[in-house]
Amino acid sequence: MNAFSFYNPVKLIFGKGKLEALKKEMPQYGKKVLVVYGGGSIKRNGLYDEVMETLNEAGMEIFELGGVEPNPRISTARKGAEICKQEGIDVLLAVGGGSVIDCTKLIACAAKYEGDAWDLVVRKAIPVDALPFGTVLTLAATGSEMNSGSVITNEETQEKYGWGSPLSFPKFSILDATYTKSVPSDQTVYGIVDMMSHVFEQYFNNATNTPVQDRMCEGVLAAIIETAPKLMEDLESYEHRETILFAGTMGLNNFLQMGYRGDWATHNIEHAVSAVYDIPHAGGLAILFPRWMRHNIGVNPERFAQLAIRVFGVDPEGKSAEEAGLEGIERLVEFWTSLGAPTNLADYKIDDSQLDTIVEKTMVNGEFGNFTKLNTEDVKKILVESL
Ligand code: NZQ
Ligand code: ZN
Repeated sequence: MNAFSFYNPVKLIFGKGKLEALKKEMPQYGKKVLVVYGGGSIKRNGLYDEVMETLNEAGMEIFELGGVEPNPRISTARKGAEICKQEGIDVLLAVGGGSVIDCTKLIACAAKYEGDAWDLVVRKAIPVDALPFGTVLTLAATGSEMNSGSVITNEETQEKYGWGSPLSFPKFSILDATYTKSVPSDQTVYGIVDMMSHVFEQYFNNATNTPVQDRMCEGVLAAIIETAPKLMEDLESYEHRETILFAGTMGLNNFLQMGYRGDWATHNIEHAVSAVYDIPHAGGLAILFPRWMRHNIGVNPERFAQLAIRVFGVDPEGKSAEEAGLEGIERLVEFWTSLGAPTNLADYKIDDSQLDTIVEKTMVNGEFGNFTKLNTEDVKKILVESL
């Protein structure tokens, strides 16, 4: 194992009826709350009304910022920080998916920063203070509800970067699977692909002696693979929504990463693709991840074989580690395709016309990846394979 420190201060409040906890949690942080939400899904499924009622009962003074985009934009975060400064907001509440939560994280830090919010994303400045914030999660996918990461798009410069700070952990996150029942089938699939990709990014590492971590990752993946088809058959199932919701949180809340050093190269490439084309994050991952895997199977074929055997049920009899590993990758593609995930960039009408721009954006900080380093040629090859 790699030596590690583990830190996760998020209070996770999970289960049916837990929205009530807002009454206890919110007043601890002040009176004036800015409720941040997306393009209207919470109004359509009734959650907006329930949140407002609960906050009113808690005696909160409510301000609102709606319209946070999927792939949240810097202009929206700037708007939010401005509201916080002008109105003297005490606390934020994100009600939505990863995009709303990520945007709220930046608003919370930018509200206490004199300069431009984008400085914090590109690390021109480090947050030294932030407003507290909580979340009510409505989409199982990113794990943002229980981590400090945030991914923001600068729509003017077509840049999309992840950033984070110890100050960008939510104080609490409320997860009631009831509110995820309205997630449409395509977004449900994206969420499943995203959380599986997070586990893969952590699983492909070079640490040795990690049997507990390996089994934890494999367990999360196996539970998702078992549950996802049942959920796709019955999107209203509370039980299956609950399993997938918990899996998404466990996929990226630092637990699986203990003793590992994750790779994150595929996420890096995907962020460049979705910065240029504004496609759904996990749509990009479904296309890119199998290509990254095939490109790098030679780095540690035994690792790929272990995944194939333990998670995808590949029979290793008479096969080399590489052959078993490749079969596992095929099963992964079959699984994602069976759920309805895209397989090629062409599915989003992306051709090679902007390929060099994507490569350039991906390589902005030089070679990257921890399982193995990727250079310009590697990235180009993975993208060409993905067309
Ligand atoms: O905007 P609304 O109207 O709310 O609709 C959203 C949006 O259109 C809809 N939705 C959310 N909850 C719903 C619902 N529709 C019906 N019923 C509900 N209960 O779903 C659409 C997508 O929402 P979004 O928040 O964009 O999805 P997701 O949670 O997948 O977040 C994606 C963003 O997170 C970033 C991605 O890059 C992308 O920008 N990531 C953040 C990470 C993190 N902070 O740790 C890690 C991830 O790897 C990822 O990069
Ligand atoms: Zn992701």
